[in-house]
Amino acid sequence: MRFLFTLLPLLGLLASAQAQSIFHPEIMQMARATGSEFPFGVASGDPEPKNVLLWTKVLPPSLTDTVEVNWVVATDTTLKDVVGGGKLTTNSASAFTVQIEQQGLEPSTTYFYCFFTATDSSAIGRTRTASQNGEDLRFAVASCANYQTGYFNAYGHMAKRNDINAILFLGDYIYEYGTREDLVRLHIPATEILTLEDYRSRYAQYRLDADLMEAHRLHPFITIWDDHEFANNTYVDGADNHQDDEDDWEKRKGHARQAFYEWIPVRRQAESSKLYRSLNYGSMAELFMIDGRVEGRSIPVEDFNDVLRYDTARTMLGATQRMWLKQGLSNSKAHWRVLVNDVMFAPMDLGKMAGARRYNMDAWDGYEGDRSRILDIIENDSMRNLVVVTGDIHTAWGIDVTRNPMDKTSYNRRKGNGVLGAEFVTSSISSPNLDEMRGKLTAKLAVPYIKARKRNPHLYFLNAKDHGYMLLELTEKEAKCTWVFMKSILKPSLKIRPLHSLAFPHNGRGLEKRNP
Ligand SMILES: [Fe+2]
Repeated sequence: MRFLFTLLPLLGLLASAQAQSIFHPEIMQMARATGSEFPFGVASGDPEPKNVLLWTKVLPPSLTDTVEVNWVVATDTTLKDVVGGGKLTTNSASAFTVQIEQQGLEPSTTYFYCFFTATDSSAIGRTRTASQNGEDLRFAVASCANYQTGYFNAYGHMAKRNDINAILFLGDYIYEYGTREDLVRLHIPATEILTLEDYRSRYAQYRLDADLMEAHRLHPFITIWDDHEFANNTYVDGADNHQDDEDDWEKRKGHARQAFYEWIPVRRQAESSKLYRSLNYGSMAELFMIDGRVEGRSIPVEDFNDVLRYDTARTMLGATQRMWLKQGLSNSKAHWRVLVNDVMFAPMDLGKMAGARRYNMDAWDGYEGDRSRILDIIENDSMRNLVVVTGDIHTAWGIDVTRNPMDKTSYNRRKGNGVLGAEFVTSSISSPNLDEMRGKLTAKLAVPYIKARKRNPHLYFLNAKDHGYMLLELTEKEAKCTWVFMKSILKPSLKIRPLHSLAFPHNGRGLEKRNP
């Protein structure tokens, strides 16, 4: 008995130490200052025709408690016409994450939902189930939101839309970097994130941003990660921005992955750590969400001239994911096959933009083996209906997907011979683009170099100076992309610049200009 008495206070201390390690003190303060037990709002994700994931995170008065949370789903904004709901518990082990799959819904329907504890309720979220027939679709497509380099105006603009099915997010949802005084907004913690508490706190800081919170509240997200959810230029066994004295890489990767899944509603097979998956939007589209980073990516090659670039033993996807993707693409009966992808898929001579390398070895250009295996599938199929959406490069591009744009016998832009699909690349939400990163002079020299037909004959559009997102519209006739650029990211504003559009006709012969 005596022994127990002395042990009890110690156990209490251990429990509170564990609970306190959820977030850094500054983040905890910011979250508490909202006065809500749901300071991070609500979110939904990965819709299917009859079900959707719903998400929130509770911040209970005591972090050692297990918390009971109820939720309700309705067809109206006042939550009177209730069609679903239930009860669950959460605790500090998951940083009080609440994620449920609401089943039994109707296809192509808008729903409203809310979470409750005994003493508080969340904001009311809106979501939409996937379609079951062949109706037209619209997605907002975005990537690369560095909190420090600008305001999330593009998220704010997407939130205001009432005409989209979902937001496809292509990675770099957070950045791992420490802070610098000269930036627009400062990161918390101020140091590079390494521990689970660090990664959780960084997501928390981003999710307290009003524009991002509103985008999650009003639209389902379909999300993949890129490198910065881990560290710059991540591959399976390391990252450019991971040094040996920064702890064990496997451990860091585990923290990063755990925090991602605590914050982003993603459909996973039986709690597996795998990100890759597919979703159907009726007969109109099948989306293939891939993991180009930690599932199978081999260590990058340094230079464009390195023959290892063509070594088929090196992979972007890894054998298991590649097999899944190849089978999925070949078996798909959808009108459009959409590759939801992180780094640039088409070959691209970037000149000075890629520095001495000319080509981006972190993109598919560095992994020719896996790229050609995917192109084999598309080429063997008579249907030209591949749409690749891409982020990562902080600039906007419209590209014919073709095996080798420089080979005149296999690709002809004018006639449309050799076109296998279209790639639409979104600019960043706020991460530095070409002139912000490399200076105005480099940007001025690089853009005409890249746009020259003799170097990149398959390139139709390039914007290397603005920030924003894309609107992807899928219809029987065509896949149309409209780039939406914000006027500024240096102050909060929802003003946009003139729109620009391109379309890939179904089963067509390359990109065509369209009025936005
Ligand atoms: Fe990025």
